[in-house]
Amino acid sequence: MRILDIIDKKKKGLELSKEEIKYFVDEYTNGNIPDYQASALIMAMFINKMTPEETANLTLSMAYSGKVLDLSDIEGIKVDKHSTGGVGDKVSLVVAPIVASCKIPVAKMSGRGLGFTGGTIDKLESIEGFKTNMTIDEFKSHVRDHGIVVCGQTDALAPADKKIYALRDVTSTVDNISLIAASIMSKKIASGADAIVLDIKVGSGAFMKTIEDAEILAKTMVDIGRNLNKRTICIISGMDEPLGFGIGNIIEVREAIEVLKGNGPKDLLEVCLTISSIMVYLGKKANSIDDAREIVLKSINDGSAYRKFREWIECQGGDLSIIDNISEYKKASRINTFVAKEDGYIGSINAQEIGKIAMLLGAGRETKESVIDSSVGLIFEKKVSDYVKVGDVICQIHHNGYKDINMIIEQLDKNINISKQKQTKGELIYRIIK
Ligand code: URA
Repeated sequence: MRILDIIDKKKKGLELSKEEIKYFVDEYTNGNIPDYQASALIMAMFINKMTPEETANLTLSMAYSGKVLDLSDIEGIKVDKHSTGGVGDKVSLVVAPIVASCKIPVAKMSGRGLGFTGGTIDKLESIEGFKTNMTIDEFKSHVRDHGIVVCGQTDALAPADKKIYALRDVTSTVDNISLIAASIMSKKIASGADAIVLDIKVGSGAFMKTIEDAEILAKTMVDIGRNLNKRTICIISGMDEPLGFGIGNIIEVREAIEVLKGNGPKDLLEVCLTISSIMVYLGKKANSIDDAREIVLKSINDGSAYRKFREWIECQGGDLSIIDNISEYKKASRINTFVAKEDGYIGSINAQEIGKIAMLLGAGRETKESVIDSSVGLIFEKKVSDYVKVGDVICQIHHNGYKDINMIIEQLDKNINISKQKQTKGELIYRIIK
């Protein structure tokens, strides 16, 4: 087989065979296909789209590009969770310890920031010492001993996704249903989950811009899960404005801790409760999602979710004195504010553009090599449908002497709209698809 022929075939919109897809995935993972040819093929897949058959074959080739974990020696139903990515989406930081505190083992592989969205691994690594890179034995022993582990993409598990993910990030090939489905499901298969909950974000700050596309993605992933005997439930949740108030790595860790302590923003709390409840239900600790919600609420209210969070941070090498003083940890040196220029209601906050502004401040990567500044980002004081008067602070800009703060303020002005009429917020949870 020759990669050039495979690129040519996909360029013409023809369906690739299982063998051709496997050849590409294996040879790219092994370093025998250069980035420029892989980029050309991925762009052809992006533009000409893939059939369900091709998507399933891509998922399996990526999942089996490394080891596929067998966690059957660890007691309990292992339930994993993944989001398609959003702005201010720190749900995994909250949900993982909640679910683990309900005695359901959580063994999760997460990604770094992708495009304008932040990544769980970048957020966790903003805690000094926290280790996301580990061997399979370490991964398994964390689940066995603590019931919780979150690792980064490794060369051992789904290494193809690690390479393809990084390439898609810098070649504008992220927002494609088949590529997202294969990326997410390959990781879930490789990390040994028995059941999977997927949070498909839809709206201006998500890769899926319409409910119709989100539903196709949900159906694609539920079908892949079903064919592999892994119960998979998708929620479709709104991402028209950033989730919660904070965007930026340590800023989001702080907010996640607030939720675990029972004080978080309402929208973020609701998404976390919905996802945790489905995970607890799939983990067979409740007979219905409603019953599971009671268990989840109890774990927050009696402090067990937060205690599990501390145990998790400590077992992966994080320093607990940081967690105990998180409000003072890694504060950016400067705070500017973006204020209302007129009276009215916040009509919209363009989440995608807000994600890009946070990235400009240093919270995300512009190239594969960019280094993240985990202290910077944005903290909203007002959200869609809130009333503001001239001079009220809408958003704080946390930075370390950014060179052109006026440009940041101009960008915020362009992407936050104030209207005379009170706006109703978009839906938070649109659908649950089983
Ligand atoms: N999250 C992933 O892991 N992969 C994608 O392609 C998009 C979001």
